[in-house]
Amino acid sequence: MRSGSGLILGIESSCDETAAAVVRAGGEVLANVVASQIALHAHYGGVVPELASREHLRNIVPVVRAAMAEARVAFDDLDAIAVTEGPGLAGALLVGITYAKALALGLGKPLIAVNHLEGHIHAVPMESRHALEMPLLALVVSGGHTHLYLAEEREGVWRYRNIGRTVDDAAGEAFDKVAKLLGLGYPGGPWMDALAARGDPRAVEFKFGEIRRRRLAGATEKQIPPPRYEMTNQEEESRDDSSGARHFDFSFSGIKTAVLRYVQGHGMRERVEARRAALAEMLANKPGMKAGDAMALRSELFDAQTLDLIASFQFAVVGNLMRQTFAAAQAFGARGIVVSGGVAANSELRRRLAEEAARRGLRVEFPSLAMSTDNAAMIAAAAWPKFVAGEFADEGLVATPQLKLG
Ligand code: KG4
Ligand code: ZN
Repeated sequence: MRSGSGLILGIESSCDETAAAVVRAGGEVLANVVASQIALHAHYGGVVPELASREHLRNIVPVVRAAMAEARVAFDDLDAIAVTEGPGLAGALLVGITYAKALALGLGKPLIAVNHLEGHIHAVPMESRHALEMPLLALVVSGGHTHLYLAEEREGVWRYRNIGRTVDDAAGEAFDKVAKLLGLGYPGGPWMDALAARGDPRAVEFKFGEIRRRRLAGATEKQIPPPRYEMTNQEEESRDDSSGARHFDFSFSGIKTAVLRYVQGHGMRERVEARRAALAEMLANKPGMKAGDAMALRSELFDAQTLDLIASFQFAVVGNLMRQTFAAAQAFGARGIVVSGGVAANSELRRRLAEEAARRGLRVEFPSLAMSTDNAAMIAAAAWPKFVAGEFADEGLVATPQLKLG
């Protein structure tokens, strides 16, 4: 294989996965290697930044070597090295960036900086068999992000405009926090997804209050009234159109509090503690155990009231993500929708979004499950249009933990 055939090595280390991939021309994945640190962080119930950096340092060289071997390419065959610039954990990003810079310099190949969120979006065109129609609405929904972008392609280069974001927790964070307060495993999203299928989504009614982001002259973020969450209330579509520029924002911290109040108000705390203790023991014996296995072994830990609460929470969160996404798609005349990030793996979100999109005559696309969560193939894919346009990074590239897109 020769250089000039569009081979890009992608490197991703923004959070708790060390990943490397080789992708040809943004669409053909030759290798995709992910070293997950989930088992390490599960012990602490969340990502510990110092441990993440240490693990990235330990994993980066073997992960890149494994990707190159799997792709059966030599370093000389590569056309460019792409790396995640941000957003993410500073120390974690630094490991990938330092390694990528040194490699690019040593090989005399161009270096391409990729925004992690743009990477998530490109997981879809990377796998899709047809061209996506623009303008495209992208919902990026993960443990750290809940954003809506309007994407357009001009002369081969993708441009983004942020038209919505969470004002507090990300959707995945809400899944993880609620799972934690119900005594489930980490990360919580997959547990909630599996258990929700066994409960009644109409049992508890969670309503999302209106989110108003007033852009009055001189108003600061702090002066924005906090969003309200109530268990039963009038349905309201949340939106911000106060300054003429319409925003479709999200808020997920209130529903977590509403779940907590429900647990406290319905005498469920003892059951939560019993579940937490039993699962901790089961997970210690079998790390990586899934919700279905745990239920098969100890079904008494998952009572109907808890399953109903989980199903109702997921139903409300998915409903809120859908409402904002379709309202934004309509307001901006989007020709199609892509949904990516860890929460895009959620089965109810996939099913209901696809049904509603079909009803509206819109095309909605998701990455495969493996490409929904963090990986480096999406980074190499997002780098391809930049490679073609000659958008290269220089030696001054630094980790940018708060990097914005659009
Ligand atoms: O994209 P990702 O791997 O990492 C970030 O950039 O955050 O997303 C991880 C998040 C976690 O919050 C996890 O609980 C959530 O995605 N997640 C899910 C599902 N699978 C992963 N949330 C809901 N349902 C799922 N099936
Ligand atoms: Zn991510």
